[in-house]
Parts: sequence; C-alpha cells; structure tokens
Amino acid sequence: MKKAIHIILITLVLVSFVSCEADETTIPTVNTEYREQYRPQIHFSAKRNWINDPNGLVYFEGEYHLFFQHNPLGAEWGNMNWGHAVSTDLIHWKQLNVALMPDHLGDIFSGCVVVDKNNNAGFGNNAMVAIYTSAGKVQSQSIAYSTDKGRTFTKYSGNPVLANPGIADFRDPKVFWHNESKQWIMLLATNQTISFYRSANLKSWTRLSEFGSGIGSHGGVWECPDLFPLSTENEKKWVLLVSNFGAPNGGTGTQYFIGHFDGTNFTAEDAPYPLWLDYGKDNYAGITWDNIPVNDGRRLHIGWMNNWQYANSIPVFNITPKGSRGSMTLVRELNLQKHPDGYFLLKNKVVREIESIANDWQPIIDESISSKTLALKLDDKKAYQLQLSGKIADSETLTLKLSNAKNEFCTITIDSRKLIFKRSDSGVINFANAFADNSESPVFGNTNPVKLDIYVDQSSVEIFVNDGAVSLTNLVFPSTLYDKLTVEGNNSYVNTQFRTFNSIWE
Ligand code: FRU
Repeated sequence: MKKAIHIILITLVLVSFVSCEADETTIPTVNTEYREQYRPQIHFSAKRNWINDPNGLVYFEGEYHLFFQHNPLGAEWGNMNWGHAVSTDLIHWKQLNVALMPDHLGDIFSGCVVVDKNNNAGFGNNAMVAIYTSAGKVQSQSIAYSTDKGRTFTKYSGNPVLANPGIADFRDPKVFWHNESKQWIMLLATNQTISFYRSANLKSWTRLSEFGSGIGSHGGVWECPDLFPLSTENEKKWVLLVSNFGAPNGGTGTQYFIGHFDGTNFTAEDAPYPLWLDYGKDNYAGITWDNIPVNDGRRLHIGWMNNWQYANSIPVFNITPKGSRGSMTLVRELNLQKHPDGYFLLKNKVVREIESIANDWQPIIDESISSKTLALKLDDKKAYQLQLSGKIADSETLTLKLSNAKNEFCTITIDSRKLIFKRSDSGVINFANAFADNSESPVFGNTNPVKLDIYVDQSSVEIFVNDGAVSLTNLVFPSTLYDKLTVEGNNSYVNTQFRTFNSIWE
C-alpha cells in the first residue's frame, strides 16, 4: 500500500513537471534571457522551442495579435499548437500562453482569426474567431472563439466546420469579411490551387470557385493563401498571396498575383508571373493582419524567416534546456507600384514603428572611401540599419561586404539589372547544402538613383531596394555580429549612413 502511494506521488510530481514544461505562463514580459548567440534582437522569436508560420494575425482593441505554428515541447517541427504573442506597436512582443492545442481532430495547423463584430457565429459580439486546419488522418477546417481578447479559446463543439472532400492537402484557411457581397470569404490551399468558400455564420461553408491552374509557380503544394485589396492611382486591385516550393533561389517562397475579386472569383491581370514577394531565401508563409483600423489603412505583413529546405536544421538560439528555433521577419507594409510595362508589382517596406527603437543616424562614408574597410560603431547594440543612396549607371556595380573579426562575411552586389546576396562565407553554413546558395533578384526599376536599406540582426540580413520595390530576406549565422563594412566597385554612390537599434527585448 505504502509502495502504491509512493508511486502515485512520484507520478503526480512527474505529471506536474511535464505540464509545467508545456505551460508558458512563466514567461516574463521583459526577458533578460533573449541574449543568446544568434537570438534576433529586433525580430520576434519564441522564448523556447520551434516556431513556423505566423497565424491568426488580427488587430483588436489596441493589440496586434501574432499567433504562430509552435511545438511547445521541442525545437523541431511536430506536435503543432498555436503559440501566441501580442504587441501594441508591431515591434515589441510579449509571448503569452499557447492558444490552441491538438485534440481528437489532430494538430493545429495554420489559419487566421477574425473579429465577429455582428455576432454572425453566435459566440458574442466582437468575439475573436480562429479558423484553422485540424490536421489528423485528414485535413479539415475547425473554429474556436475567444471573448477575453485572445487569452483563452473555446473550440466549437460542431468541429470540423469544413470536412475533407478527399483532397490530401486541404489547409490554411484565411477568412475575411467581404463588404460588397456581405459575406465571409474563406481561401483555402487545395493541392496546387486556392479554393474559395463563402459563409454567413463562419460555421457552414459553401464552395464558390478555384484559382491557380496553369498560372504562377507550381513547384509544390500551395500553402498559406491571403487575399486583400490595395489601392493605387484611384484603382482598387486585389492581391493574392500563395506560399510554395519553387522559389526563385531554391526551396520555399511566397508568390503573388494581382487582379480582381468579385465575391465569387479571383481573376489575375496579366503580369510576368511568377512574381515573388521577397527574393531572399528566408521569407515564407507570410500573411497580413485583419481588422486594422480604417484610419490607419495599412496592409501589414509578417513572414516566417526560414525555408523548408533546411528549416529543421538551422542553429538554435541556445536557451536551456531545449533551444529556440525560428523567427519572424520584420513587420512590413505592402503597397502597389506600377511597372513601366504597365503591370503592377507588390512593394514591401519595414513599418515606420521601427523608429521607436532606432538611434541617431551616423554618416559613415563619402565618395573617397571605396575599398576601405570601416568599423561600424555599434556601442554594444546587436542590430542596425545601413542606408545607401546613390547612382548605379549601366556599366557600374556596387558591392557591400559585411564582415566580423573572424572574417565571416556576406556580400550584397547590385548593378542596374540585378541584386545578389552571397552567404557562402557568412558563418555557420554546413547544417544544409542549400544554405550556402546565393540569392539573386531582378532590380525591377531604376538604379540611377537607387536607395538600399539593409537591416542586420544577429542572424538575419533584410535588404530593401528603392523603398521595397525589391526585398531580399536571408538568415546568416556569424559567430559575432558583422561590425565592419567594405564598399567596393566602380560607381558614383553618394551617401551612406547607419544607425543602431535597441533590442526589442530590453
Ligand atoms: C506552411 C505549412 C502549412 C501548414 C503548417 C504546418 O509552412 O506547411 O501549410 O499548415 O506549415 O506547420
């Protein structure tokens, strides 16, 4: 008997220990532990364990919500839950408890959150409703709701709300209220197309149409769609985002289409598809925030800063006992830009809120410094922005080399046609063959003049050309931050400055 009580006691202690591991209530708001090697200082990462896609991006009562694919029990993909973080400024994030855990229908794969202003679903006015993929034997769509600003969710008893019709890859619902036709619209990735559904109550869904056969990149199944309007020159266009294998520099990336949505069908305008939101290797599965106040009006995007080619083997931020693997891009504002040939391109630039952590600009070079190596005065800060404005005429090339004391380096080379990012000597690269590959991008516009904005963190370099006409996002794992800049090339650039950023975890 005594022995039995002993065993029960030990079991209870073990069980409480295991559940304590999974529970993230203990994560402090201001965390002194976000200092590990490689740990992003201006990007969101989970305190510990694995993350992938951003999910459920929604603004509600003063908070930007960032849910995300999360394994709370390990630093590899699997056991998918929805992690949760909130921000009041898109820069500083506070990680909260896990929002959705696996159940009898399966793991919790990617999806979205909407605010049900008129109580269409019957969960209450302004209930936050999560629509996500239940990934069990088959993939189906489920919903859950929160009436306490996303702190706790209740799963709907009638799940799944959209059963699997016999399609293996049937996931990643993105729902929005389409005011013109007064109905909820769901986009769903269905093998290599996007299917559209409609609903009056978020619970019963009717299929409308399908888009994607014979257009764009089909290097793998389509994932994580998003659809939203953007206005330009008095015209409203609809932008469709789709993430898949087949990215221009290998592995996974996010492509886009620009066209029209009439409440039933999406049709793409002519453009040289595939077009990519980002030409770097590490911006995937990004979607945009729903319910941004009208007086703000921006379309805000965040992506997972990784690539399925090597996602499970990138170095971890080495927090004990398990490590944290994966991070998000900076939050970006999306806009349209007309190409001289008449079609539209999607631009993305870092949100203005970044100013809140930026220190003063420091001029660093003038025309005489070509081929000299300059020390960047970082004052112990671990992230910074370089900005270069100048001219690159037809025969000219500009190379910026970022390096550290161990001579680990990456290079950014731009001429009037293309931009190339090289990371073959950038630090740790041997965890996957494809990691060392270059990223190359067309410049899509004028380089005379040209402006480059480069955001460098402990494990990433994000490059923006001409206010985001092109962006290239890439991971790097140098043993210490790059703190030296060398400028090479025959060109007539004029002005380069840099500024440091305070850590968002301070
Ligand atoms: C994209 C993705 C989604 C899926 C999720 C699973 O990266 O494969 O299609 O819902 O990740 O974690």
